[in-house]
Amino acid sequence: MNDVPARCGVIGFPLAHTRSPELHRAFAERCRVAQVYDVFAVTADEFENFVRAFFADGGLGLNVTLPHKSRALELADSASGSAVRAGAANVLTRRADGTVHADNVDGVGFLNDLARLQFDPPGMNICVLGAGGAAGGVIAALLEADVKAIAVLNRHAERARSLVVRMDDERVAEFSGTEGAFDLLVNATSASLAGECPDFPDNVIKPGTLAYDLVYAEQPTAFMRRAERVGAHTCDGWGMLVEQAAETFRLWHGMRPDTGYVRRHFALRKDK
Ligand code: ATR
Repeated sequence: MNDVPARCGVIGFPLAHTRSPELHRAFAERCRVAQVYDVFAVTADEFENFVRAFFADGGLGLNVTLPHKSRALELADSASGSAVRAGAANVLTRRADGTVHADNVDGVGFLNDLARLQFDPPGMNICVLGAGGAAGGVIAALLEADVKAIAVLNRHAERARSLVVRMDDERVAEFSGTEGAFDLLVNATSASLAGECPDFPDNVIKPGTLAYDLVYAEQPTAFMRRAERVGAHTCDGWGMLVEQAAETFRLWHGMRPDTGYVRRHFALRKDK
């Protein structure tokens, strides 16, 4: 590992809770790649100037998190299909010609983690809570994985409506309340970050429903506790974070780290 380290990092605001640096350090060590991974707490006002300067200065890649995901897509020179469909980017990469490419690995991270949990999407009925960038990324991935139907339930219904229109797929509809129980209930709202639980009726859950919170936390979130009381299996977004970090690493360095190894590596601190 004598090369000049590739400069990477995560950009968002605020960023107090990020664990991406630990994951990337572990991947870089494991894959023997020279990489520095910094945390950039940058406000919306400073975002564009910061990103342009970072890449002009030779930076290789940025993970992008709240509140910058839509802006990241807009300022990139090119974008993957998953970023365009989600209307949001969570990875920016400088290409060899100096242009900046946007990707969205939320979806692939989520699908990889569902596979780990032995949840097989084809033919499944799914309810997604939330209508922001996170919801868009997850819905785009689930559609590509051949799910049967997706109902979108959001606190402000008009946002759910516009997300359904944007997804432009007959399998995606606004939640009506008449669907019955779902195989998978995804919390794609940011409510857990505030210790809150998004509203949903009990009858969306049946025995065997997987209730998946995209947020990761040391303790079960309010959403997980509520879903478990009603009879669901639950999990948080730690596995998805590990998977999407691995996918980001692959985009930047062309090799995919062993996520099982990293999960074991962190098992003492986060036993998932
Ligand atoms: P992201 O890019 O992470 O999706 P976002 O675009 O700000 O972030 O969207 C946040 C989502 O969480 C929205 O769906 C929001 O609902 P509204 O559109 O009705 O505002 C949802 N959300 C945030 N806090 C919530 C809460 N306490 N209860 C329910 N939904 C909540």
